[in-house]
Amino acid sequence: MKIITVIGARPQFIKAAVVSREIAKHPELKEVIVHTGQHYDSNMSQIFFEQMHIPKPDYHLDIHSLSHGAMTGQMLEKIEQVLIKENPDCVLVYGDTNSTLAGALAAKKLHIKVAHVEAGLRSFNMQMPEEINRILTDRISDWLFCPTSAAIKNLEREGFGDFGCIITQCGDVMQDAARFYASLAQAPAEMNLPHKYILATIHRAENTDDLGRLNGIVTALNTISKETEVIVPIHPRTRKILQNNHLKTEFTMIDPVGYLEMVYLITHSECIMTDSGGLQKEAFFFQKPCVTLRDETEWIELVEHGCNILAGADNAAIIDAYSQIQKRPIDFSANLYGNGEASRQIVAMLLE
Ligand code: UD1
Ligand code: UDP
Repeated sequence: MKIITVIGARPQFIKAAVVSREIAKHPELKEVIVHTGQHYDSNMSQIFFEQMHIPKPDYHLDIHSLSHGAMTGQMLEKIEQVLIKENPDCVLVYGDTNSTLAGALAAKKLHIKVAHVEAGLRSFNMQMPEEINRILTDRISDWLFCPTSAAIKNLEREGFGDFGCIITQCGDVMQDAARFYASLAQAPAEMNLPHKYILATIHRAENTDDLGRLNGIVTALNTISKETEVIVPIHPRTRKILQNNHLKTEFTMIDPVGYLEMVYLITHSECIMTDSGGLQKEAFFFQKPCVTLRDETEWIELVEHGCNILAGADNAAIIDAYSQIQKRPIDFSANLYGNGEASRQIVAMLLE
């Protein structure tokens, strides 16, 4: 059985790392990796392939830094050419980026089966490019691998039971990654970490492309950093926007780090503040309280279990959420994302 994996953005490398490792255990499976090029800086792409031992991509499409239509369209065209040449049995896509949608759509139009890892998630905010990508990808997928029971419920509510696709709750591949790589965590080079710090990331379009929201987040982080150091591995998108708009930052910005450094930074932090999807879950995996810098989240079970506060992008609301989460006793014992067996289950289902 030949599987083509389409990946392109940082979180997809991390998710694919554990599934590719599992695929490699089965000689009857052949994986061909297509990197769309969506993320291209070495600390946004290459470092993950090296650190996590992801097989080198068989195809690199070099498509990035374009508008949504141009990026998705160019990916669609080039992925189609690869699929016609390789004639796979299945295309495997992850998450909700433009690379996800392009991979799924190219495959479906050629009547190639689509497997979607991280299916069924919803923010119910159609302004988010990710929400559009994930709804459309789910609808044309043959296997929907859901990480949570909330994801299963979303698909049931949308009538997916009648679409003839296979829907399973297999747990979260990011949990697999966290467990597999935790013991390999390493401190970022040439950095003296303070004893106590908050780890924050910001990259979501709804925050970076809205100067009012970005300003609210930056002001809050500036205020909090007067008491506790705030370390921000800054996404290149955000760095460019902060610079272009001369926003004053008083927290510690570092370049994006590899996954092993990120795990180290999470495990040694006091608290996480983020608009990242993946990092909200990693806060939970490593038992850190999380303040989410968004108005809604797909990972609603974290909020329901009191591990995560949705603060939005308002300065005062963020400071208030940070103060609340520090006082709150948090129980991290719930099993929300499976037992680290998601990739094994996904590959077993594909083999079936
Ligand atoms: C993308 C995904 C988002 C995901 C995020 C993970 C879409 C629509 N968005 O957002 O869902 O959460 O990846 O990080 O697919 N850039 C660089 N170097 C890089 C990568 C990006 O400089 O290696 C800059 C470029 O200016 C680029 C901008 O960041 O135009 C935005 O990159 P893009 O991939 O379009 O969106 P992300 O914000 O990274
Ligand atoms: N991450 C990383 N280095 C960084 C910032 C994030 O390895 O400098 C990891 C993070 O630990 C998580 C993933 O990247 O595993 C999340 O990706 P991102 O926030 O870019 O995207 P999202 O999850 O929001 O789609």
